[in-house]
Amino acid sequence: MNNEPEIISEINKISEDAEKLLNSSNNLDELESRFRNFAGKKSKIAAILHNIHLYSAEEKKIIGSKSNEVKNRIENIYNSKKDELSIAERGRFLSGRGIDLTIPGNYIEIRHKHPITAVLEEASDFFTSMGFEIVEGPEIETTYYNFDALNIPAEHPARDVWDTFYLLNGMVPRTHTSSVQARTLEKKQLPLRVIAPGRCYRYEAVDATHLFMFNQMEGLFVDKNVKLSDLKGILEETVRHLLGARKTRFRPAFYPFVEPGLDLDIECVFCGGKGCGVCKNTGWIEVIPCGMVHPNVFKYADIDPKEYKGFAFGMGFDRIVMLKYNINDLRLLYQGNLDILKQF
Ligand code: PHE
Repeated sequence: MNNEPEIISEINKISEDAEKLLNSSNNLDELESRFRNFAGKKSKIAAILHNIHLYSAEEKKIIGSKSNEVKNRIENIYNSKKDELSIAERGRFLSGRGIDLTIPGNYIEIRHKHPITAVLEEASDFFTSMGFEIVEGPEIETTYYNFDALNIPAEHPARDVWDTFYLLNGMVPRTHTSSVQARTLEKKQLPLRVIAPGRCYRYEAVDATHLFMFNQMEGLFVDKNVKLSDLKGILEETVRHLLGARKTRFRPAFYPFVEPGLDLDIECVFCGGKGCGVCKNTGWIEVIPCGMVHPNVFKYADIDPKEYKGFAFGMGFDRIVMLKYNINDLRLLYQGNLDILKQF
């Protein structure tokens, strides 16, 4: 004897109808509204479950499980039909606009940092690892910080070395980052270790090794017991870190804000010291002018030169980049020429 309640065949019928109707839907809207008729609150299945209390416990079990089975089945049919219609609708949308997804896409080039930025970051990391702090100063500077506070008084012939463009208001595009030395000392937070990278401007005839605008990285180290040997140690290490093992030499040089003043040269990377156009036949290239902070510079900042000593340097940054990558003309770095820049 078939003890299945009659309602079971009704539920089976619902299932068949749902399958037929859902599968024959022509679009997503139609599918959605048909699905709601079969699975929503007002659907036949919902009504059957609503009245389930009218049946015996055993019948309830059978009706309940059958209804759930059919509900799941309807949901599965709905989901796979929905996927099918979505894909078809997207295809119609794209082909209507002439979009062919099988055509290979545009190649997006991976960019990298400009060599000047990359080396600047490398040098900054190197100095910060030795406890130096990075500070900045303005590119348009007063003559006081660019000259006077650095022991370069007006009318003194030493000013000629940095003679430059003047603005109508008497200020100058700074000729070196040494102005940041003067600004930093004035704050008197001693002892101190700072680097100050930035752009500088000069009245300069442009050639392979000189530009009217260039990057410098100033360094200043002040403490009670700083010696020339500290300067030599740190700068030789800097050259080794940035440029690899190269022959170096220090030679005396004059800068009004240091005493003694020095230039750190490295063996010419282009000719290996034999002499060429880039090193002007000397076999050496000047990379870091430096020296011990002049007592007058301390006095301008109201610091007692007997109590504090310091060293300073002004690394020509573009030149470091040039030497690191064997670029024999500085102008190439500023032309924005991708054929050149892509090589780094
Ligand atoms: N400011 C100097 C220049 O631009 C370089 C320098 C900096 C020299 C610090 C000594 C100490 O020529």
